[in-house]
Amino acid sequence: MLLKAFSLLLLCSVALAADSYDGYKIYDIIASNAFEKQILLRLSNNMDYDFFDMPRAFDAASRVMVQPKDQAEFELLLQKFNLEYAVINDNLGDSLRQEQLENQSQRLLSQRSASRSISFTAFHRHAEINAYLDELAKAYPSRVTVTTPGQSYENRDLKLITITNGDGKTGKKVIFLDAGIHAREWIAPAEALYVIYQLVENFAANSALLKDYDWVILPVVNPDGYEYTHTSTRMWRKTRKPVSSSCYGTDANRNFDYHWGEVGASSYSCADTFKGETAFSEPETQLVRDLLLGYKGRGKFYLTLHSYGNYLLYPYGWTSALPTTWRDIDAVAQAGADAIKSGTGTKYTVGSSTNVLYAAAGGSDDYAFAVAEFPISITMELPAGGTGFDPTTAQILPYVSETWLGIKAMAQKVIEEF
Ligand code: ARG
Ligand code: ZN
Repeated sequence: MLLKAFSLLLLCSVALAADSYDGYKIYDIIASNAFEKQILLRLSNNMDYDFFDMPRAFDAASRVMVQPKDQAEFELLLQKFNLEYAVINDNLGDSLRQEQLENQSQRLLSQRSASRSISFTAFHRHAEINAYLDELAKAYPSRVTVTTPGQSYENRDLKLITITNGDGKTGKKVIFLDAGIHAREWIAPAEALYVIYQLVENFAANSALLKDYDWVILPVVNPDGYEYTHTSTRMWRKTRKPVSSSCYGTDANRNFDYHWGEVGASSYSCADTFKGETAFSEPETQLVRDLLLGYKGRGKFYLTLHSYGNYLLYPYGWTSALPTTWRDIDAVAQAGADAIKSGTGTKYTVGSSTNVLYAAAGGSDDYAFAVAEFPISITMELPAGGTGFDPTTAQILPYVSETWLGIKAMAQKVIEEF
């Protein structure tokens, strides 16, 4: 009994230590030729190394998080293969603890001063986000509808907000936006909230975007993962449904049933890009699927928000071939990139995800385009902050307002063309 209690304690402390990120290092590695890129790809298959981004074009750095016990061997490997690298953070735990304190105090501050449950000065918890949606439905009953089409694996309400101009016309064309498929990409749900804020609380300035279109927004697709990154493991990416005895979670953006699992997805349940035991194994991806299919015909623009890397990506993610209509999608994405470039100078790369990033099947963007027949389907990767997924609270407002310039421009282009 005592032994059992003791080993349980030991287990817990190990689990906690694993999540503190004490001594974790972040490396930037440059592959300057095909051989070195190959080595990076091999390294990225080792699950002890958490690649924040996958090796892509030559000379673009790959960022990797490595825990203390693996660092000596990792550095030896880099040296052996003569890879050029830099340690950009030598104790992630310190940075994350500081950021958490800062976020906590900003959350409390905004709770005291703001009339709403959320602000753009802190990263908010899922319950606060849901409360904000309900507040809007109450304050703007003629233009806002909030529904709960389902629950996450851990039973959190997935709330969906539909925003109209209140003219009472039904069956309008639809812009569908979601965020937070990946848990650690906190700036993405923040952006979805900013879009909601602009369309609802700044309606007068944005009413043209709602004339012939309704906007349907799911700000947190994966709330279990999102909450887990707040309470336990900041760099968690996947959902939280257990898969095997020791591994949890599926990469929701590898779980959609269009060329599912064919490329760029792992069959190993512990991997960060685990495709799931079956396509649509997760309640969260089932819910997005059913919503998208429900808008078939009306759905003209699907936009899914991720971070990081400054990309506007479009189908396909499963093959380097392009859809016949790629020029239409490219023009919309380019309009977004141009608007951001002229607004703040920030550059985005535009292209098909296979061609400018990497091949990865089972993404929501390919599904929305090819199966739910949204003619424009785009994955937007917002800029990096901190070591990538952890912008400071002071960066939230500049980031979300800059990104809104791009989203607005893309929506305008869609509205013009469709
Ligand atoms: N960073 C995103 C991911 O890995 C990019 C997704 C692009 N779309 C795709 N279908 N591969 O999930
Ligand atoms: Zn992502």
